[in-house]
Amino acid sequence: MNTERLDGKVFVITGGSSGMGAALAKDFCNRGAKAAIFDLDEVKGTEVVEEIRASGGSAEFFPCDVTSKKQIHERTNEVEEKLGLITSWINSAGVSQMKPFLESEEEFWDLTLNVNLKATFLCCQVAVEKMLENGGGEILNMASLSGKKASSWQTVYCASKFGVMGLTQSIAKEFADKGIRINSLCPGIVHTEMWEKLKYDYAKKRDIEPDEVMDYFKKNIPMHRLVEIKDVINAAIFLLTDNSSYLTGQSINLAGGEWMD
Ligand SMILES: NC(=O)c1ccc[n+]([C@@H]2O[C@H](COP(=O)([O-])OP(=O)(O)OC[C@H]3O[C@@H](n4cnc5c(N)ncnc54)[C@H](O)[C@@H]3O)[C@@H](O)[C@H]2O)c1
Repeated sequence: MNTERLDGKVFVITGGSSGMGAALAKDFCNRGAKAAIFDLDEVKGTEVVEEIRASGGSAEFFPCDVTSKKQIHERTNEVEEKLGLITSWINSAGVSQMKPFLESEEEFWDLTLNVNLKATFLCCQVAVEKMLENGGGEILNMASLSGKKASSWQTVYCASKFGVMGLTQSIAKEFADKGIRINSLCPGIVHTEMWEKLKYDYAKKRDIEPDEVMDYFKKNIPMHRLVEIKDVINAAIFLLTDNSSYLTGQSINLAGGEWMD
């Protein structure tokens, strides 16, 4: 079991109302960190915060559309008033749908690129500004194996996540000597709310039943299992602490042997 403590750290976690963002917020607060959740989903975000507080942790929910620069700036200032100086930032807000390329409308492109790429750009900008004032920090972008590996019916999602890789690497170079490290995680399949929705379209793509989708993946992953939340937590702790003090601009594949580049 990972016994790393995160006392003194103040995290902003975008997309923290659900899935990996929520799991990271809960786990990190148990380790002594404070978490600020930025998400559109106020109901689920408030539940996450209540759960953290019930087990003695410190967290706040901030309603925020991360595609809005104005909202991100306003919420970020409120975080520093309520929780203290931001030391760390996780960009986990994301959207995904599976569509054949020729059925991928312009609106679908705009939404996906806005949430997955533009919002990551906007949030990284605010995070870097704060971290320069605060003497450094660490940023983690939730990319995906789809940031490195093509998939049919995922053209738009892949384009957004390949973009996150370039963004992460370029910011890393520019601020490497300023005490700011930025890395990305590239998980394969994590069975969150996102895949509960995606499995119906994936089933169509493979001509299988939705309930067969997760087993289909397991069969084809060399370790024959999906990414577990504990895998995400352990990798995130590594990338967001001094354990990885010489790593910046890197992307860690959580792939069970499926992808190695
Ligand atoms: N689940 C997977 O298999 C998987 C694999 C690789 C990468 N990822 C990526 O990891 C991240 C988290 O995925 P997840 O599975 O936890 O997803 P999820 O759907 O469970 O959670 C995503 C969260 O983002 C929030 N969000 C969406 N648009 C937003 C906006 N404009 N402003 C603020 N919040 C917004 C949603 O409300 C939701 O709470 C995403 O970026 C996703 O692309 C997921």
